Amino acid sequence: MKIILGPASTELGEKISELTSLEKVGVAQRTFPDGESYIRLLGDVQNEHVIIVQTTSAPQDTRIMQLAFIANAAKRNGAKKVTAIVPYLAYARQDKTFLQGENISVETVSAMLHVAGVDALITVNVHAEDALGRFPFPAKNLSAIPILAKYFVEKGYKRAFAIAPDKGAMYIAEQAQKILGGNAGHLEKHRDRHTGQTSQTALNIDVKDKTAIIFDDIISTGGTIVGAAKILRELGATRVFAACVHPLLIGDAEKRILDAGIIEIVGTDSVSGNTSKVTLAPLLAKELQALKSG
Ligand code: R5P
Repeated sequence: MKIILGPASTELGEKISELTSLEKVGVAQRTFPDGESYIRLLGDVQNEHVIIVQTTSAPQDTRIMQLAFIANAAKRNGAKKVTAIVPYLAYARQDKTFLQGENISVETVSAMLHVAGVDALITVNVHAEDALGRFPFPAKNLSAIPILAKYFVEKGYKRAFAIAPDKGAMYIAEQAQKILGGNAGHLEKHRDRHTGQTSQTALNIDVKDKTAIIFDDIISTGGTIVGAAKILRELGATRVFAACVHPLLIGDAEKRILDAGIIEIVGTDSVSGNTSKVTLAPLLAKELQALKSG
């Protein structure tokens, strides 16, 4: 087994390779003047089960194409199996049609990757796990919520209240609660499918004089966290933190969140940036150790 360091996740790939002692294969990458991507493998993959580490946060389309090209290059150069580790799986939020005439984006992405040579995929906190069951190859979802919650325990916030911004994310708050040992609850979020606008309301949660941590899979524009922070402050929470697996943080999202009174934003290196304070490397390395020995 060898690990291919995709250009979008070089640092994470390096860390996984150190933890697993898997031999690394580098990738030469450049962009042609017209914007097209070029990749070349810098090592031998003949008869190997190769693990490509490549996240697909923005620029999503470029990174998906790079992943497909790497998978294809691996197969053309004799790899016997290609497993893609894609910490943030782009287009996973369009996992069904909501309005007449739409496509299912994640279905198209998985079909493309399959044709390119991907035989299996490992991702982290994918938006809707059900979608993986319809992929044309085995796909596994891991959760980074426990390691995010551990970060807060280590900072001294054991027993903090774990909040999910909507009912669908309650399982996330419950995973965090197991580590934090406090309470868990959720807000209600409503989305207008035509405008994309969301609004939130609180249910029966008692965060008065408590530390609250909002756990979500993704922070994109920050609107969800800003809305949740406002409600939690109104309910009397003393401190509010935001934790997410995929800190996309589009535009001025980080500033808006901090301006809304969030003390700290804690994300993982699924999307690298200054809020990526927790690395996914041990979680992914453990999964690869299990693959190696299985
Ligand atoms: C949606 O259901 C997700 O779990 C996140 O809550 C959402 O993607 C966050 O988006 P934003 O930061 O734009 O509110």
